[in-house]
Amino acid sequence: MKFNPANDVQDHHHFGEFGGVNPSISDSATYTFLSAKQMFDTFEGKAEGCYLYSRHSSPSTLYLGEALAAMEGTEAAHVTASGMGAITPVILQLCDAGNHIVSSRTIYGGTYAFLKNFAPKLDINTSFVDITKLDMVEAAITENTKIIFCEVVSNPLLEIANIKRLAKIAKNHNIKLVVDNTFSPLSISPYKLGADIVMHSLTKFINGTNDTVGGVICGTQDLIDQLRSVNDGACMLLGSTMDSLRAASIMKNLRTLHLRVKQHSYNAQYLAEKFEKDGLRTVYPGLQSHPSHEQMKTMMNDEFGFSGMLTIDVGCLDKANALMEQMQHEKLGYLAVSLGFYKTLFSAPGSSTSSEIPEDEQEEMGLSDGLIRFSIGLDNDIERTYQKMKQCMIDLDVLKPELA
Ligand SMILES: Cc1ncc(COP(=O)(O)O)c(C=O)c1O
Repeated sequence: MKFNPANDVQDHHHFGEFGGVNPSISDSATYTFLSAKQMFDTFEGKAEGCYLYSRHSSPSTLYLGEALAAMEGTEAAHVTASGMGAITPVILQLCDAGNHIVSSRTIYGGTYAFLKNFAPKLDINTSFVDITKLDMVEAAITENTKIIFCEVVSNPLLEIANIKRLAKIAKNHNIKLVVDNTFSPLSISPYKLGADIVMHSLTKFINGTNDTVGGVICGTQDLIDQLRSVNDGACMLLGSTMDSLRAASIMKNLRTLHLRVKQHSYNAQYLAEKFEKDGLRTVYPGLQSHPSHEQMKTMMNDEFGFSGMLTIDVGCLDKANALMEQMQHEKLGYLAVSLGFYKTLFSAPGSSTSSEIPEDEQEEMGLSDGLIRFSIGLDNDIERTYQKMKQCMIDLDVLKPELA
C-alpha cells in the first residue's frame, strides 16, 4: 500500500494514564526504581519500559518521537530542544576529527554557520556544493567524507534536492545521506526515497503556532540508541533536550498538520501563480517555471502540495523592506523570520536568516538583495489577500498599475 504519512500519524494511538484522550504529561525530571538492580539495568540500556532521567527521554518526549517516526516512516525518532539541537548532534555523532562533509550551499544560515565556522574547530570540514548538480556532489566526496547533507527544499532559494539520486551516491560511497525536511513535512518523505536520517525544526510547520522551538531526528533504532547513549551519545551528552510539557503541546498540534499543510500549499500555489502572471520574479516549486518542478512531482505525496514557501524578487533591499513594512501595516502578515505559522511571515533572507553567509557567496548562489521569502499563512480567502498584496505592490512601484 502507498505510504501516507498523515494516516500513520492518525493511527498513532495512546490512552492517557487515566484514560484521557491525550496522553498524560510526565511532570518529572527523574524516575524511581523499585530495585537498585533495575536502576543499574536501565543505565546499561537493558530495562525495557523504564525511564531514568528526562534528559535521556520521558514518556511525553517518547510519544512525540513515535508519532514523528510514524510520519517519516522510520523505526524511531528522538525529539530535541530546537532544530539546531537536532542537526548539530547528528553531525557530531557521525563525524570524528579529520572527517569531511559534502553539504548543499543553500541551507539555513545557522546550519551553514555551524558547518563553516564551528565544526572546523573540531577538524570536521565541509565542502559546499550546488546540490542540484549531482556530478559536483560526487566529485566533492573524499575518502574522509562521512555525510552528504542537504535540505529537501532549500532555505531560502527553494532548490529541490533529488533525494533518490543522492541516496544512490551516498550508498555507493558507503556514507550517510542526512536531510533536513523542515520546509516540506508530509509533502515529501525522504526516508522512503532513500535518505538515512531525516530531521526537522519542529518550530516551523509541524508545531505551527510559533510558541516554541523544537527539533526531531528520525532514523533507525540503532542511530537513536547511539544518540541517547549515556556513554557517548551526542543528544544525551550535549543536552539539547525537549521539555515534556512542550512535547505534549507539539503532539497536539501535529494532529492537525495534514490540514494545515494542504491549506499552506493551496494558498502558496495561488499566490505564486498570480505573482508570476503579474510579471514578478517568483520562485515556487509548484510553478512549471521552477527548474525542479517535474522532479518534485516524482518525489512528493501529491495531496499535500508543494508547501507554503515562496520567494519573489523585487529588485533591491529598500523596495523589499518598504513592501514588507507596508504588508505588515495592512495586516497581511508579520515582518518576521521563521515559517510555518498560521499567519503569513515575510523576511529578506540576505539580511536576516542567511546573513551568516558572506555577501559574495550569497551573490554566487543567486541570493539577491531584493529577495523576499514568504511563508504563506492559512488565510481563508486567498484572493482577498492577493488583492491587498497587489495594492501594496502598486503603491510602492513594485508593480505597474497597467500590468497589475
Ligand atoms: C530549514 C531549517 N532548518 C533548521 C532550522 C533551525 O531550527 P531551530 O530554529 O528550531 O533551531 C531552521 C530555522 O530557521 C530552518 O529554517
